[in-house]
Amino acid sequence: MGWLSERLSSSIGKKIIMALTGLLLILFLIIHLLNNLLLYVGPEMFNENVARLEAIKPLVRVIEIALALLFALHIFNALKLWYENKKANPNKYAVDASSENSTVFSRSMVITGVTIGIFLVIHLATFWRTFNFGAHPTDGRHPFYAIIQDAFANPFIALFYFIVMIVLGFHLKHAFQSAFQTMGWRHPKYTPIVEKIGTAIAIIMAVGFASIPIFFYISSLGGK
Ligand code: HEM
Repeated sequence: MGWLSERLSSSIGKKIIMALTGLLLILFLIIHLLNNLLLYVGPEMFNENVARLEAIKPLVRVIEIALALLFALHIFNALKLWYENKKANPNKYAVDASSENSTVFSRSMVITGVTIGIFLVIHLATFWRTFNFGAHPTDGRHPFYAIIQDAFANPFIALFYFIVMIVLGFHLKHAFQSAFQTMGWRHPKYTPIVEKIGTAIAIIMAVGFASIPIFFYISSLGGK
């Protein structure tokens, strides 16, 4: 046990935890986007899906606890690695900026990660809390769909979501291929494909999620 905890708290151990939790979080994001894209199919379909999830609430709660653990492990290890790197090499930035292997995406991982972390707290305190414990609109519209409709009718909320979703795309652009590299899953033939898949995931996530606040904000203008 002592051996395992020593391994996991080593630098490479932390990186492996980040890679594995990161890949699982990407899987969550893909499912989350698919669920949210039902908004485009229409209020009935979106509400039906929420009702389906309500029917298996205990399982959803277990998944949410697992998700919270994944996020906590991912963020905690990221900040610890960042702090240790900074302590070991205070002038790292200058080195990184000139390094051929470093890209704007890899250099901005901490700042994009922190932005997504702050977003997540706000997101859960608003959407998740209202969905699960808040007052739902009672004006005859589909209640869950209406919560999202009303939130994104506010231009500040819509713009905030839009910007953070682009930041999310930047984070994912580096994240996916970096996880493969950390795990040692490198191969001359497959690594370029992994990089392409990473880029595709980043673009699909950013465009897919960012389109939702824009769609609802523009729709709200027509309703005025
Ligand atoms: C336009 C973008 C997004 C919309 C409209 C949206 C919508 C929602 C809604 C409605 C819920 C509550 C679902 C429920 O409890 O049944 C939720 C939960 C959640 N969202 Fe999002 N979300 C967006 C982006 C994101 C992003 C980018 C992340 C992660 C970085 C994220 C992470 C979560 C988490 C962890 C939960 C709680 C788990 C869950 O209930 O599924 N969301 N989101």
